[in-house]
Formats: sequence, C-alpha cells, structure tokens
Amino acid sequence: MKQWVLAAGIAALSLGAVSVGAVWAQDVVAQREADMKRMGSHLQAIKAVVDASGPVAPVAERAADMRDYFARMTGQFPAGSAEGSKALPAVWSDNAGFERAASNAAAAAGKLASAASANDSSAVAAAFREVAASCGACHRGYRAR
Ligand code: HEC
Repeated sequence: MKQWVLAAGIAALSLGAVSVGAVWAQDVVAQREADMKRMGSHLQAIKAVVDASGPVAPVAERAADMRDYFARMTGQFPAGSAEGSKALPAVWSDNAGFERAASNAAAAAGKLASAASANDSSAVAAAFREVAASCGACHRGYRAR
C-alpha cells in the first residue's frame, strides 16, 4: 500500500512536470509568434512608405525595433520549444546557421534604421529590400510553411 501511494505520488509529480513544461513552451511560442507578427507589420508599413516614395524619417523607429528584436530573437528558441510551433528542427540542429540568419536580419535592419534617420530615401529602399530578403532567407530553412 505504502509503495503504491509512493508510486502514485511520483506519477502525479512527473505529470505535473510535463504540464508545467507544456505551459512554458506554449508561452515561449506565443511570445515569439507575437513578436514575429509585429515584424510583419513593420515590414508592411515600411513597404508602403517605400512604394509611395513617402517621407522616410518615420521608418526609423520601426527599423530600430526590428534591429533590436533580431539581435536577441534566437534567445526565444530554447531547446524543447518546437512543439505547437512552426519552427523547424533545423533551428536546433543547425543552430549556427539560424544565428547567422538572425544576425544578417539585425544588420540589414540596422542599415535601414540609419538610412531612415539620415533621411536618405534611396538607401532606405535598398536596405528595405535587404531586410525583406533576410526574412525569407531564414524562413526558407527554419520555418515550416
Ligand atoms: C533567423 C530566422 C528568422 C528571421 C530573420 C525572421 N524570421 Fe519570421 N519566423 C522564424 C521562425 C522560426 C518562425 C516560426 C516561429 C514559431 O512558430 O514559433 C517565424 C514566424 C514568422 C511569422 C508567423 C508568426 C505566427 O503568428 O505564426 C511571421 C509573420 C514572420 N515570421 C515574419 C517575419 C518577418 C517580416 C521577418 C523579417 C523582417 C522575419 N520574420 C524574419 C524565423 C525568422
């Protein structure tokens, strides 16, 4: 009897650990997906400015948010957080490539922020294309469709 109670206790404890783990992973995934959505809306807003040849100064703040996010985004992909997300196993099996793709995106967004602050619309247009390409470059290898 005692042994049975002990076994049940251990089973309950480990079930608890599993569900705490699942909740943790859901939060991590929800947070990074929300941040990525914000990156998507920045990109769309900046594209509208570039397409309309509008004033580029307002692009700076969005581009700076992208630069700062991409500089720290890989921290949002701890091991064990693949489930229920579109992150491909390559995020972890080829982590160096994933890190490189993130730092390319951060560098491109940094260029975009500087070009916008300098009010240089042709540099903004060029850096915008670089940023957009950096999203696709990472998604191709590291995000499920
Ligand atoms: C270094 C890799 C990397 C870069 C760079 C990157 N992404 Fe992502 N993105 C991902 C991964 C991985 C996911 C899947 C995340 C998940 O489902 O947990 C994702 C998901 C998304 C999603 C879907 C979010 C959702 O709700 O499911 C959007 C939108 C998105 N990215 C936009 C962008 C935009 C716009 C850029 C460029 C400005 C960008 N991403 C750059 C890796 C990247």
